[in-house]
Amino acid sequence: MTEIKKELLYTGKAKNVYKIENDDEVLIKFRDDITALDGGKKDTLSKKGAYNALISAKFFKILEEEGILTQYVKLVNEDEMISKSLDMIPLEVICRNIATGSLLRKYPFHKNQELQPPVLQFDYKNDVYHDPMLNDSIIIALKIATEEQLAEIRRITLKINEILSNFLKERGLILVDFKIEFGFDKEGNIVLGDEISPDTTRLWDAETYENFDKDIFRKGEEGVVDAYHVVVNLVLTDEEKEKWNVEKLDL
Ligand code: CDP
Repeated sequence: MTEIKKELLYTGKAKNVYKIENDDEVLIKFRDDITALDGGKKDTLSKKGAYNALISAKFFKILEEEGILTQYVKLVNEDEMISKSLDMIPLEVICRNIATGSLLRKYPFHKNQELQPPVLQFDYKNDVYHDPMLNDSIIIALKIATEEQLAEIRRITLKINEILSNFLKERGLILVDFKIEFGFDKEGNIVLGDEISPDTTRLWDAETYENFDKDIFRKGEEGVVDAYHVVVNLVLTDEEKEKWNVEKLDL
């Protein structure tokens, strides 16, 4: 356990953000809390925070290697990450490769329809307004981002989708959809922030289409943390599993 001097800045639904000595960075603690249905469903599940931090750190490292700017600096403990501090853009950028969930309820897509090109969606990250879907005009009128910044966000999101979809496909998982968030760094660059984990993605077994993500919890089924453990085992190298004492699974 590495102890870092920290001061709580704010508490989210599943993570705490702390100020640390270096003003350009923050410490993000991934808690074991899990919520769904706009906060209507809650639980605390041992190891969930650590698994999400380990998976997020791995994805961010892969993306950095491919030239994507991310907030990630390093993991200091299994559930604590040091990240560059960003001025966050209040958008939930959702990218979908397969039609499922609300897309089937709201539009005439057929179940599991492949979406090529992927469907991009922007939701307003705002609890008071319950995260409504936005379009470019509203985003620009609210001064959330400019037209050029939106084009850049779209470009980076599609690149992230390509990199992670390929990485997961090689490990037998389909990246069905995911939500990401961006912020501005000190130089004004658009940088990937927050997390990418089974809390914020839909991951399906490529053969059986079984869920390995938060949908298990949303549906009220058992075994959500076991599923996240499977994902950790699929994405981390043996060396990384040893370093963080992740119990190996026979898959
Ligand atoms: O697909 P559907 O509209 O039913 O649900 P969604 O909430 O729009 O989810 C699409 C994808 O974004 C899923 O992988 C969610 O896990 C993720 N998401 C998220 O992580 N956080 C949100 N606030 C909204 C979506």
